[in-house]
Amino acid sequence: MIIESEKDVTPVVLSEYERIKNPRLRQIITAFIRHLHSFAREVKLTEEEFQAAIGYIVALGKHTNETHNEAVLMSGSLGFSTLICLLNNGNRGQTETDANLLGPFWRMDSPLTKNGDSIVRSPTPGAGLSVDAWFKDTKGKPIEGAEVDIWQSSTEGFYENQDPIQADMNLRGKFITDKEGHIAFRSIKPAGYPIPIDGPVGELLRAAGRHNMRPSHLHFLAYKPGFKTLISQIYDPNDKNIETDVQFGVTHHLIGKYVPHDEACAAAPDFKPPWFTLQHSFVMESGTAKLPRPPITGKAQGERPEIPHLERV
Ligand SMILES: [Fe+2]
Repeated sequence: MIIESEKDVTPVVLSEYERIKNPRLRQIITAFIRHLHSFAREVKLTEEEFQAAIGYIVALGKHTNETHNEAVLMSGSLGFSTLICLLNNGNRGQTETDANLLGPFWRMDSPLTKNGDSIVRSPTPGAGLSVDAWFKDTKGKPIEGAEVDIWQSSTEGFYENQDPIQADMNLRGKFITDKEGHIAFRSIKPAGYPIPIDGPVGELLRAAGRHNMRPSHLHFLAYKPGFKTLISQIYDPNDKNIETDVQFGVTHHLIGKYVPHDEACAAAPDFKPPWFTLQHSFVMESGTAKLPRPPITGKAQGERPEIPHLERV
């Protein structure tokens, strides 16, 4: 059909994409076209704004490499990642869930580590942290033999992949749950950290007067055939940015209890008071065990980066 006017565009485009044979892909693409066209009509997008939007999408790609994923940061900064997570977990959004954002810093092949051991692999300052976590099915039965990846930032606010000064795989580990569905490890208490703002995400945050901080958290990814892979984070309620996470990841259910201790730690004589304990029980839903695509694959070289902090205004 030859287009006569603006009103013809959407039906003409839809009629072409309704030819897609795969029903799910057809549903997604046609809904996307409808919403995209009505978005342009609603805001009366100008030609200059359209060109800026294309430049923005190009910049997302240009700011992505093997150690940094700008697209994941953008999705998080728009609350889209949390929306997708909550739509797909907790009985499709009906109940609380341990599921949370993967974030841009999960790496495959974290080193297998014995329960109780430390994930500090090169000198890393910070308060000691001892973590116990349990993994159960929806009926409360312990899950034995689940592989649990842990990853976290340093006290300086860097994941090892961002920071050439840290050893490869520092503050990362893979643990196997025992008969009680339990893992334990030692580390340092994670710190909140800024997300990079040298790309389109930074532009968006500045325009909104938002800060670029994530509140302090520990990442978990639990994998066992027969269960939906559980991706989670446990947040520190005492972090000053707990209410304004730049990535909108914090849910009430995932606020942890980081308990301070002033006595010496028998299990870890190197811990200086105050050190902290954290305990959390996770529930895994039955389903298909699939690992996500790793958002990054490598480690940065050269100098430790400097990531500026934006103030919330
Ligand atoms: Fe993180």
